[in-house]
Amino acid sequence: MKSYAIAVLPGDGIGPEVTAEAERVLQAAGQRFGITLTLTHFPVGAAGVAAVGDPLPEETRAAVQRANAVLLGAVGAPGLEHAPRHLKPETGLLGLRALLGVYANLRPVAVLASLVDRSPLKADRLRDVDVLIVRELTGGLYYGEPRGRDGPRAVNTLVYTKAEIERVARVAFDAARRRRRLVTSVDKANVLEVSQLWRETVTTVGRDYPDVRLEHLYVDYAAMRLVTDPAAFDVLLTENMFGDILSDEAAVLVGSLGLLPSASLGAGAGLFEPIHGSAPDIAGKGVANPIGAIASAAMLLRYGLQLPEAADAVDQAIRAVLSAGARTRDLAAAGEPVLSTSEMGSRIADLVLSNCGLAIADCGLDLPSSNRQSAIRNPQSGTAP
Ligand code: IPM
Ligand code: MN
Repeated sequence: MKSYAIAVLPGDGIGPEVTAEAERVLQAAGQRFGITLTLTHFPVGAAGVAAVGDPLPEETRAAVQRANAVLLGAVGAPGLEHAPRHLKPETGLLGLRALLGVYANLRPVAVLASLVDRSPLKADRLRDVDVLIVRELTGGLYYGEPRGRDGPRAVNTLVYTKAEIERVARVAFDAARRRRRLVTSVDKANVLEVSQLWRETVTTVGRDYPDVRLEHLYVDYAAMRLVTDPAAFDVLLTENMFGDILSDEAAVLVGSLGLLPSASLGAGAGLFEPIHGSAPDIAGKGVANPIGAIASAAMLLRYGLQLPEAADAVDQAIRAVLSAGARTRDLAAAGEPVLSTSEMGSRIADLVLSNCGLAIADCGLDLPSSNRQSAIRNPQSGTAP
């Protein structure tokens, strides 16, 4: 029997609630496919500060380096926004990404037919939307030195090396080969030297991929295009900060930030986390959407452990419950029944265990038939890196 160690870092706010559901679904997948998954919890973020005064405790550092994959909830807590940098929850997350060397952050964004009406965009714009954002994750403004505050002056540094750009560009081109063979590289080359290097380097890497079309967009125009013509994107490749901003914008397409997963990959163990934050305003109420975390667990199975069958089962279960009308509060239209975080997690886990794929009618899903609809396409359809 295959056996894997997974470090689970629930973190702050809604992190523990959504991570618990992802764990439930992972265990269901393990049971169904005969895989032993050992899930062990470690603190990160404000939880780490509370436990041992460090947002990335030594125990957590050691554990993630031993693990086969890392599942993270969210970090961030009210009151710590102005804490010294070494005590900020976000410093724990950035430290973790750097420690694992996970330079390529994959954020798939695909619109499900059953959720088209949850987006503020017009339905015709949403047809065929299936974007994979490849965000550089361990460089740029988030990490550049010098940085700091000096009285009435503050400094951050945007720096990238050619090598850093090349390796993430390769991830994007490789992914495009398994998808629709288009890479849109996003930069600000009309203003920034770093972007000029970015553009040149991506162009050079692109020569190794003559079968993949490459286009370059300025980030301001890309932001507009993402909501006016989102179906025009296949793989969107960009640097750390632009990718952070554009991926929240892309969440508007699918109807809720709570749905979107991510995989952060590098040389060693991968890090898998929903793209949403810790949402302290709704923490502890059982209303958070666990699907971003559960879909991140599916990416963990796919890219972290190379278990595509188990990953497919989880992705299919997510699609099936959404097509059947299951809605957490963020997704529910007025008058629609609302599931709690754990009810949503249980439905998905039950479906993974029941081995009934998309044949939801046979699976005892007790949901309003009015919003049963089939999915346009597999939300993870083109996410292979
Ligand atoms: C994300 C988050 C993080 C980021 C924060 C919490 C540091 O917004 O994963 O997108 O900016 O990378
Ligand atoms: Mn973000």
